Amino acid sequence: MSQLFSPLSIKDITFKNRIGVAAMCQYSSVDGLANEWHRVHMGSLAVGGAGLIIAEASGVTPEGRITPGCAGIWNDQQVEALLPITQFIELHGAVPGIQIAHAGRKASAAIPWEGGQHLKNDEGGWDIIGPSAEPFDDDGTRLWKTPIQMSKADIVATQDAFVEAAKRSLAAGYKLLEIHGAHGYLLHSFFSPLVNIRDDEYGGSLENRARMMLETTAKVREVWPENLPLAVRLSATDWDDAGLSVEDNIQMSSWLKDAGVDIVDCSGGGASPVSRSSIGNKTAMQPAIAGEIRKNAGIMSMAVGGITDPKQAEEIIASGQADIALLAREMIRNPNWPLLAAKTLGADTKPVVPAHKAFFVG
Ligand SMILES: Cc1cc2nc3c(=O)[nH]c(=O)nc-3n(C[C@H](O)[C@H](O)[C@H](O)COP(=O)(O)O)c2cc1C
Repeated sequence: MSQLFSPLSIKDITFKNRIGVAAMCQYSSVDGLANEWHRVHMGSLAVGGAGLIIAEASGVTPEGRITPGCAGIWNDQQVEALLPITQFIELHGAVPGIQIAHAGRKASAAIPWEGGQHLKNDEGGWDIIGPSAEPFDDDGTRLWKTPIQMSKADIVATQDAFVEAAKRSLAAGYKLLEIHGAHGYLLHSFFSPLVNIRDDEYGGSLENRARMMLETTAKVREVWPENLPLAVRLSATDWDDAGLSVEDNIQMSSWLKDAGVDIVDCSGGGASPVSRSSIGNKTAMQPAIAGEIRKNAGIMSMAVGGITDPKQAEEIIASGQADIALLAREMIRNPNWPLLAAKTLGADTKPVVPAHKAFFVG
């Protein structure tokens, strides 16, 4: 009997299987709004059979977007545009999740296929903020904007923006909320010693660097219903001896558990040029790290990175590395991956995809 295709319940939500689609920016919004692209993209994933679909990093403020094409969740118009998508996902048996995010010093960038470089303010970019006034890079080859060091008032305002985004996510019909605490974006950049060189209560010791993520999470938990799952995505290692270790992230996960988080999503990298990649080769080591965090922090985990093969995903769940296996690029290649995985693993395909598919090709 396949473990990957066994249901999972977290709080009042039941996932029909342990396959999730990881958050993936689509760079296709105008003013943060979902449009036809998102309806078709998310819709195809919804009928592909994954139990959980996490919508892309959605800015809690306009300045918190990575690029001008990124999604947003800072106004009611965005909520209205998202509602039909979450309803469609649920209608076809998947759980709609959303990742709420602030890109910090990595914001104000061009979309990847237009180069990904920081945009000047007169090119459609904007002023960026971070824990410290340190640019992501200074390799001299291109523009790396220097962020404005956040004041205490900026910190509180940003935490409040996460809270408002959580309320809007609920209104938009999402049933799982993921706070983006990874990839060098704002919350991770506070936690990582590669970025944060503050000397106040938000910098210095591990406890101080963790404060921004933990305070934000605790405030979000107050408004995100107790019966719905709350997740945090971590960069579970900075891939740099001077940065965050897996042990630091075990500690963070156990603090997050105390703050009411149900499951941690164990990604990696992104804080600095050295640990830049959150998509590259190193990600294949992440599922093992998800297992370490799950075991040592006593919290549910999602594994992500290089998962392409149904037997590999089955092993990740069966061996206790994770409760949910997240796929990103493989789902771009094939949104029907869960259906094929069910066939490969000998699981019943009928509960996996809608009858429209199961009847004919299940
Ligand atoms: C097109 C694309 C967009 C992505 N956008 C996000 C995002 O919005 N939030 C995030 O946390 N990770 C994002 N990622 C990273 C993925 O969620 C995932 O962690 C990474 O691709 C490794 O998984 P994979 O090997 O299955 O692709 C993105 C990856 C891709 C390929």
